[in-house]
Amino acid sequence: MTTTENITWTEAKIKGLVRPNILNLTPYSSARSEFKGRADVLLDANESPFDTGVNRYPEPLSTDVREALAKIRNVHPDRIFLGNGSDEIVDQVTRVFCIPGKDSVVALPPTFGMYKVAAGINDVGFRAVTLQSDFTIPVEELKASWDDTTKVLWLCSPNNPSGNLMDAAVVEDLIRSFPGIVVLDEAYIDFVPEESFVPRLDEFPNLIITQTLSKAWGMAGVRLGAAYASEFIITMLRAIKMPYNINVLTKDAALDALAQPEVMQSRVDLLIRERRRLERELGQLPMVDYIFPSVTNFLLVRFTDSDRVYRYLLDQGIVVRNQSYQPNAKNCLRITAGTPEENTKLIEALRALGEAQD
Ligand SMILES: Cc1ncc(COP(=O)(O)O)c(C=O)c1O
Repeated sequence: MTTTENITWTEAKIKGLVRPNILNLTPYSSARSEFKGRADVLLDANESPFDTGVNRYPEPLSTDVREALAKIRNVHPDRIFLGNGSDEIVDQVTRVFCIPGKDSVVALPPTFGMYKVAAGINDVGFRAVTLQSDFTIPVEELKASWDDTTKVLWLCSPNNPSGNLMDAAVVEDLIRSFPGIVVLDEAYIDFVPEESFVPRLDEFPNLIITQTLSKAWGMAGVRLGAAYASEFIITMLRAIKMPYNINVLTKDAALDALAQPEVMQSRVDLLIRERRRLERELGQLPMVDYIFPSVTNFLLVRFTDSDRVYRYLLDQGIVVRNQSYQPNAKNCLRITAGTPEENTKLIEALRALGEAQD
């Protein structure tokens, strides 16, 4: 079925997208989900009684972290699901909505690789519609790519590895016309002044927005991702989660960071300045063919010979990401903005390579 008509969503239609076995699942009931109050003596979870700071299981829904995020994003905590990184949420969305061996998802390469891997793990078909050469969405081709089996559309904005923000009107049109779940991956949203789609959740019953503490918040090591969606979709994600997927150490670190958004903002400001400096400096090197405009903390740079540059940088102890194998990214390396000192090292190393070539 190819359609460009807007879908009218009813509760029954949304429910119909969920795999029947998940819709009917009785989720695992953990000790901490059965007893939610306060007690002096906890003998219900076969934990160790000795207080090491981590001897107790975490509260299963990480309510305090959801409340902290809810304040920042101005959304109800019941519309937030937390995952062990947004990686975990990518897998969970695939499992909630796609019947293995039957259903499919569609994504727009070059893009974040986990959408395809999650489909592969779950024996779900993966349809790829390549972004145009300026990394905008080929809307008509995309609309022609889905059919009745296509349950999830993955949109990444700003997109990794191209660094561009997708046009909000195009995103809106796709959410309204796709007859399944649209996931808008906003991992890099804190780097852009444009508004997230989170405040617009009420308009889109079929939308899931994912974000992460791994990028602007500087916490890739704690593994915390968030999905924002309707209460019904959040309930479905909760139904299949591991009982204690967010651990106590992650929770504590996240609460500390979320209490200081100004620290995140000052780092973001610095990284944006550094990205702009990289863009200016790299743009002057003859070995650089093109730098794609980026709104994120990284740049996609096309070199005249990316393999040579990649190997040379490795020899200098500098690792960037080779993207040349991705569609429309031939000879491209993805370079993350580091500290000012790290970026200076990169620029000097590339200048030295340029001079050796002259
Ligand atoms: C677009 C995008 N989404 C999701 C992720 C994964 O984030 P997390 O660390 O929360 O699993 C990444 C990481 O590179 C990413 O680029």
